[in-house]
Amino acid sequence: MTESVKIVYKDRIYELPVRTGSHGEKAIDISNLRDQTGFITLDPGFANTGSCSSAITFMDGERGILRYRGISIEQLAEQSSFIETSYLLIHGRLPTVKELQQFSVLLNDNSLVHEDMRGFYQHFPRASHPMGILSSMVNALRSFYPVLETTDEEIDLTVTRLLAKIRTMAAMSYKISRGHRVVYPRPDLSYCANFLNMMFDTPVMPYEIIPEAVDALNVFWILHADHEQNCSTAAVRLVGSGRVNLYAAISAGIAALWGPLHGGANQAVIEMLSEIHANGNRIRPYIDRAKDRNDPFRMMGFGHRVYKTYDPRARIIKKTCDRLLAKLRISDPLLDLARELEEAALKDDYFIDHNLYPNVDFYSGIVLRAMGIPTNMFTVMFAIGRLPGWIAQWKESMDDPNWKISRPRQLYTGPTQTDYIPIGQRNL
Ligand code: SDX
Repeated sequence: MTESVKIVYKDRIYELPVRTGSHGEKAIDISNLRDQTGFITLDPGFANTGSCSSAITFMDGERGILRYRGISIEQLAEQSSFIETSYLLIHGRLPTVKELQQFSVLLNDNSLVHEDMRGFYQHFPRASHPMGILSSMVNALRSFYPVLETTDEEIDLTVTRLLAKIRTMAAMSYKISRGHRVVYPRPDLSYCANFLNMMFDTPVMPYEIIPEAVDALNVFWILHADHEQNCSTAAVRLVGSGRVNLYAAISAGIAALWGPLHGGANQAVIEMLSEIHANGNRIRPYIDRAKDRNDPFRMMGFGHRVYKTYDPRARIIKKTCDRLLAKLRISDPLLDLARELEEAALKDDYFIDHNLYPNVDFYSGIVLRAMGIPTNMFTVMFAIGRLPGWIAQWKESMDDPNWKISRPRQLYTGPTQTDYIPIGQRNL
């Protein structure tokens, strides 16, 4: 028997069905609300509004739980690889040994970028932000790989091309921005090792593949791989709902992720910590500014729309930080500062009352710095990690028989009907 809720308005009673999720979470189905009542709902920022049903990622914001296709990120970070986790998200199950081998071979076979695309990079100003370049280059892939996504095979090919080429394109933007020779992917290296090699190998100083750095990158990208209906994923679904090609939908996701309130926060955290460090490590003024409602400053890397406790990804990233920095014998003053800031904030009533805890971005920049990734590429690293999640969410929406173009309504608050005034009758 379907549960329902009743809405009483004046002398009318309306009944709406209630839907139940896998863990008992409840949703009022308002898909017929306007037809039944003439009303719409209003929910700026969609804090209370579900856009879809999804079987990909489960988050429990109160208990700090995150699972991809039912498997906890703790287990995946400990035992899986980014490529295996990508397969899990996109195909809905872990691959067999043979399937994983085939997937890795396909990713290698498709990891080159059309040579004519290199010309695009030459014409971006050297100081261009890599996220703007990445969003443009992903969109441009459609011109160079115009396979339509009508059959499953074509969709799989486009998905493989995206996953294979995004890290090549990211590394290319770094090399070309520095006037260095582009390094090609190697068939003998894993997905993550290939990326680091493409970023840092040079003819005069061959890059030494450090297993702990490759492991840290695998964990970093596993933790970023999906996060249900966040801003950039919602953008991919919304843009995709117009039945545009996957490259364009992903390009929109990259653009949405760029913002400092979203994926751009990992770069903003390091910039904030560097500023505090340069000012003598005095954290109190920054904590006071974060608490001042008249000050637009936000404590970057803190707070989350869903997590009202410690972001489970931040815990794992913090451990990865310790392991990698110990192995590389790096002591990063910004890590010590981050720990001090976390300790002070978590004791502060404002942060406690507002449920503000470190999120995935608070420590991730420290790991990336230890790998040698430049700060302006931190959000690119987030985008590469989130790509399998965006793809999985796009596929799920395309396969949904009830899916339709996203077109929200609004509550109009502008002027009621007014007449046009000819220019000759207006004030001078
Ligand atoms: C990501 O959605 C996802 O899943 C995103 C993500 C993913 O994997 O896709 O997890 C990745 O984007 C992580 C978040 C990265 N962004 C930051 O670290 C930027 C700093 N954080 C904030 O801007 C904020 O916490 C957000 C944007 C993350 C969430 O904002 P909400 O849910 O819209 O909350 P809000 O801005 O309405 O704030 C509620 C209250 C306000 O105080 P009051 O006016 O109610 O008194 O909390 C305060 C805010 O002032 N607040 C903060 C704060 N975050 C919220 N105050 C100081 N510092 C902060 N960081």
